[in-house]
Amino acid sequence: MEFTARDRLKLLGGASAFLLSACGGGSDNSSSTSGIGAGPSTPVTPTTPTTTTPPPTSPPPSGDVSIVDGLLRDTFTNNFKMGTAMTDNRVRANDLSAEIALAQFNSITPEYELKPDQIAPTEGVFNFVEADRIVDWALANNMEVRGHALVWHEATPDYFLQGSPAQIRARLENYVTTVVDHFRGRITIWDVANEVTSVDLYNGTNGVGPDRDTAWFQAVGNADYIDWAFLAARAADPNAQLFLSDYETENPMKRGWLIDIVRRLRARGVPIDGVGHQFHLQLNTDPDQALAAIDAVTNEFAGLINHVTELDVSFYTDPGSCWESETNCQPDVGNPAPADMLASQATLLRTLFNGLMLRSSVETVSFWGVRDGDSWLNESPTVRSNHPLLFDRDGNPKPALLAITDPNYVI
Ligand code: G3I
Repeated sequence: MEFTARDRLKLLGGASAFLLSACGGGSDNSSSTSGIGAGPSTPVTPTTPTTTTPPPTSPPPSGDVSIVDGLLRDTFTNNFKMGTAMTDNRVRANDLSAEIALAQFNSITPEYELKPDQIAPTEGVFNFVEADRIVDWALANNMEVRGHALVWHEATPDYFLQGSPAQIRARLENYVTTVVDHFRGRITIWDVANEVTSVDLYNGTNGVGPDRDTAWFQAVGNADYIDWAFLAARAADPNAQLFLSDYETENPMKRGWLIDIVRRLRARGVPIDGVGHQFHLQLNTDPDQALAAIDAVTNEFAGLINHVTELDVSFYTDPGSCWESETNCQPDVGNPAPADMLASQATLLRTLFNGLMLRSSVETVSFWGVRDGDSWLNESPTVRSNHPLLFDRDGNPKPALLAITDPNYVI
């Protein structure tokens, strides 16, 4: 009988060391759950990777890798929660990605169900059905829920931005109050404003100082809408943690603009609790630049929380034209993923996670999906096979997962 990944996942509910060691487990002798990447039974005090040659851990045969329930979240239990994006469709279908999420993660971000274009596509009409279902599923399984996102220009129905700035403000405050109030006590973390930082670094046209020149900015005439959203969210739920989130904070120029916006919000007394770094990375990303983004927040704003909110490592480094008009996109790398690229991804993520474990301001690290086939990067910026996540299309753990959970795993 051919074991599917789903079968293996069930089989490993209360895994024993034997089963794991049969896959070429690690040399960890800390407990009966030792084996491939088994999380240490005692918390690992993160140190810079040792220079001594680790005992050999033979790489598992491809496609025949199983891990113990809880490996991911347990490995980092003393550092941060491990999260993933999830959709209501997958939860309702109880598909393999939902099963793996239950087995390995302890934080959930609804991938799109909490966005304004899904919650209130028509003015004054709020639909919480899909969002409630995925939020309650996560809570029933003792997982934190990150609310994403109250304000995002790419998911804003046109009616939001009609009328005078005062009318836009009143509408925004009503929306934020209604949504945050609805989820109060269930969603404890909100991406209040998403992708509001200038992207001038590309074309010199999409920024006004540090602020992104979005439809929100144009309708209001400035970036005060960010303040309004945070203030309304705090008023609606004083206990929720409020985040400003953005992508490419690993780029020093964009990071600088984000810091400028946070500095302005805090100078105005706007309540902000943390920064969400999306970290949509590529194989050639310098992980130290990603870690520098965490440090930039911590160094200037002591006490502010850092989350990694949408982590994935694309196998492509396309030019801007591919993102703008699907021209000059790199050719499909194919499926299954090339071994050398899997190894590069594993090396990058091992360095990143070693660094994140040393930074106490990091409280949640979320991947943007469970299995490679779930990823938005299979359609954006163009349709082709991508392999950006920790589990392959069949739900097997990839080298990157083994590399971040087992210091002795040989990439
Ligand atoms: O699954 C439903 C389907 O049942 C329905 O019939 C159909 C028509 O409405 O919609 C389908 O849902 C789509 C969903 O992706 C499927 O996962 C939504 O329309 C579509 O809008 C949604 O796109 C999401 C996108 O944000 C816009 O909300 C992507 O999943 C999601 O990965 C992407 O995530 C963004 C972050 O929020 C912000 N950072 C960038 C990131 C990637 O673009």
